Amino acid sequence: MELIKISTITDSRGRLSFVESTKDIDFDIKRVYWLDQTTPGSDRGAHAHKKLHQLLIALSGSVTVDLDNGKEQSQIVLDTPGTGLIIRPMYWRDLKNFSDNAIVLVLASELYSEQDYYRNYEDFLHASRIS
Ligand code: TYD
Repeated sequence: MELIKISTITDSRGRLSFVESTKDIDFDIKRVYWLDQTTPGSDRGAHAHKKLHQLLIALSGSVTVDLDNGKEQSQIVLDTPGTGLIIRPMYWRDLKNFSDNAIVLVLASELYSEQDYYRNYEDFLHASRIS
């Protein structure tokens, strides 16, 4: 489980947080996307990436992330914008238990490419065992 502390400056005006490539994370950021307006009971994820590195931050609310690299499973609840979760290539992830007000920011190392996905768990498992 790779959790990082997000740099934050808080003063009377509020909070300012930032992430810098190479300083805070060891990959360059090529893409930013976010999840919001999640509907009750909805799950996301259910895939793994071949080459993509990602940093997930729950900017608001909370989400549970299940991770599986084909050998070990782990689970983390992201519920503070002060902590980021790095997800490396070849980790199957399931995002669930989104709170009503959840906003999850994702910083990604590559542009979107459907070829980078494993969307079938058995295919992922097979690939993880031979890699
Ligand atoms: P997906 O990665 O499957 O999201 P989730 O696992 O959270 O459901 O993406 C959902 C859809 O959005 C899919 O059709 C691909 C598209 N998409 C993009 O076009 N660009 C992006 O950067 C992302 C993350 C998804």
